Amino acid sequence: MSEGILLEPVARGTLLPEPARVARLESALPQVLAALEGETDEVALQATLACLLWETLPQVNWCGFYRRIGERLLAVGPYQGGMGCLRIPFERGVCGACARTETTQLVPDVHAFPGHIACDDATRSELVIPITVGGRLRAVLDLDSPHPGGFSAAEARILEALVVRAFSGEVHPSPGIG
Ligand code: SME
Repeated sequence: MSEGILLEPVARGTLLPEPARVARLESALPQVLAALEGETDEVALQATLACLLWETLPQVNWCGFYRRIGERLLAVGPYQGGMGCLRIPFERGVCGACARTETTQLVPDVHAFPGHIACDDATRSELVIPITVGGRLRAVLDLDSPHPGGFSAAEARILEALVVRAFSGEVHPSPGIG
């Protein structure tokens, strides 16, 4: 069972220099993948990834998933941070833009993004990555930061590759209760 990941402690809210953020993310990757190894339950994968990315990315104030629950509707999934809005239609927000276009949204200034949904007024930048399984959008990974420019293109590429590996295997939606 994973005991989390081994990384240098960094105070929550710290925006490390970009090269240090990339190095930290790259050092976390094998530990994250090891923690997820063999897991096929979607909620377990999302909850664990939200937890481990929260530990890995000190610059985030929200880290988690929005799951597709309808043709054009997202619902909040496992996350770390303050309360996230429960539903997001594909027509709204950065998450909706990601789900609608199935492309990563790297937003250095959320105040300049038309229709940004502010679950936390302190959020200044955002990175949202699509997760497709079997060629169909299943969820988005949403990362928020109180720092303008809190995420780089290099971090986005690493996280895109991580979610592909984390969810490209056999992934089962969590069975209903009963
Ligand atoms: N900011 C997101 C909404 C989700 S909260 O940030 C957790 C958006 O604009 O879609």
